[in-house]
Amino acid sequence: RLDVTETFQGIIFPGHLHTQESLRYATNFKFQDTDTLIVTYPKSGTTWMQEVVTMVSCRGDTVKSQTQPNWARAPWIEQYYCPDVLKASQGPRLLTTHLPYELLASALQGSKAKVIYVARNPKDVVVSYYYFHKMAKFLKDPGTFSEFLSDFLEGTVYYGSWFDHVKGWTSNARNIDNFLYITYEEMWEDLRGSLMKVSRFLQCSLLEDELTSAQKTCGFNTMSQNCMVNYTLIPQEIMDHSKGKFMRKGQIGDWVNTFSQEQSHNFDEVYASKMADSMLKFVWE
Ligand code: PPS
Repeated sequence: RLDVTETFQGIIFPGHLHTQESLRYATNFKFQDTDTLIVTYPKSGTTWMQEVVTMVSCRGDTVKSQTQPNWARAPWIEQYYCPDVLKASQGPRLLTTHLPYELLASALQGSKAKVIYVARNPKDVVVSYYYFHKMAKFLKDPGTFSEFLSDFLEGTVYYGSWFDHVKGWTSNARNIDNFLYITYEEMWEDLRGSLMKVSRFLQCSLLEDELTSAQKTCGFNTMSQNCMVNYTLIPQEIMDHSKGKFMRKGQIGDWVNTFSQEQSHNFDEVYASKMADSMLKFVWE
């Protein structure tokens, strides 16, 4: 069976990619000051930001984006293959994580690593996550959307609660020396501006034509067709590409096509109560 579950510190993880050892490795990760760490709750724009940072760091050169799979150029520190990938890599490291802040707080303490947090409208996140569970054989069968939505609101899905994730990272941003918060919606509405924002944050300035190349490479249509980021390199037994696409729709506000009015209303109530203690201003509400 592929859909085994690993539980670590009360949170469930797909056992296909995580072990107790790999999760311990991540929580004790030795960050270097030159590292860039992309942090997301799943389905919030991880792959997109991996491509954005790649294109910014390469100053618009497309070679890396066209020849190296995203998981090899920006490994998830909690996944078992990370140490091997890092051993084989050179230069400043690009890292990814879906872990909540509490699990990385001590590893990040005192570090000058650059942290980019990408958040997305949680209604779009849960819909994207639901369809991903249907195609990814290493994730549990999500049941009906209504069942999956309840699990999401309870925080009993893989990688834990969306609410805790967003609140944990944003409310502790002041403890991180170099922190950039950006949303999927901002990237969607202004990809060029978002590329410029990331390039300023990484202190890596791009010329106009380099920016234009990055913008094209990071567009949904180009990424959908790039096998280095669209997960079509993953065998059918692990991701059933006949059941859906990883690069599914790439829209904002698409949740209306899956949520009922009642589900949306209930979600809003849970959201208001769980986010009451958050200072975060979201662009989507
Ligand atoms: S994962 O499995 O956590 O790494 O998934 P993640 O990459 O975070 O999220 C996948 C969703 O991001 C969409 N995506 C994009 N949208 C717009 N433009 C670009 N370039 C882009 N790249 C990825 C992808 O389509 C998934 O969202 P949905 O809503 O399912 O389409």
